[in-house]
Amino acid sequence: MQNAGIAQLGLDWRYLAFDVRPEELGPAIAGAKAMRFLGLNLTVPHKLLALALVDCRDASAETWGAVNTIRFEVREPDGQWRPLAGAGPVPADAPVRSHGFNTDADAIVRSLQEDLGLALAGARVLLLGAGGAGRTAALKVASEGAAELFLVNRTASKAEAVAREIGERFPAVKVTVGYPRGEVDLALNATSLGLKPGDALPFDGKAFSLRQARAVYDMIYRPAETPLLAAAKAAGCRTANGLGMLLYQGAKALEIWSGRPAPVAVMREALHAAVYGSP
Ligand code: ATR
Repeated sequence: MQNAGIAQLGLDWRYLAFDVRPEELGPAIAGAKAMRFLGLNLTVPHKLLALALVDCRDASAETWGAVNTIRFEVREPDGQWRPLAGAGPVPADAPVRSHGFNTDADAIVRSLQEDLGLALAGARVLLLGAGGAGRTAALKVASEGAAELFLVNRTASKAEAVAREIGERFPAVKVTVGYPRGEVDLALNATSLGLKPGDALPFDGKAFSLRQARAVYDMIYRPAETPLLAAAKAAGCRTANGLGMLLYQGAKALEIWSGRPAPVAVMREALHAAVYGSP
């Protein structure tokens, strides 16, 4: 996805993957900085660790408490920090810093908008799962002005903790721990149920019916159709899987590094081919 986007922008860059042990994340980021990498993406389990390891943090990283994108920047003679990409030749002794961003949270909203046609303002939302992904999704949905949020998690105490955090940060949003009565605009799965063949549905069929949901979003994208999405289609819901989230967090990262709009269609096609084996 990134290399396709990079090629489309005509940039002479390469996007490479590295396995890094969590205890070596600090030296890995320092090494990338020393080698004048333009930027990095980070994934599980590095996103939380990186928060304390970058030289400075964008508001997106502060707000969501995680870093999934780093941009390396150089201090120019005028004192301004500029992205290394596009800064031209960098003197060997020029100060370089790592700047941490989070592009995951915005990607949820953009994917809901583009893939389901769903705007969150005023919406009633059922959120399944209160782990790392579920917490960020719940807070982001609340920050977008959802009217009412229902939180369900196997471990109820985690849903209660997220509900308390929403109460503190977004007091206008009505939060309930438990299933909704009546309809919701969106049911969003942020649990890992559906990743493995034979997994159960991520909700209690006695307490909630998919007929209550207008749209269902599953953050899982492999398999492309989870049991939840198959059941949601059968119940007449609009559906989308989490591939869009992966796409938009990457597109935003490319925009942060390059300062140019990401070629989203090209990136989507490459991502689809890489994940599902065909365009
Ligand atoms: P992530 O970063 O992807 O959110 P995570 O923090 O491990 O990963 O969260 C996984 C989520 O899936 C949690 O909501 C978890 O529920 P618990 O908080 O009770 O662990 C949920 N989950 C995982 N396996 C599950 C299962 N078998 N049944 C129900 N929920 C499950």
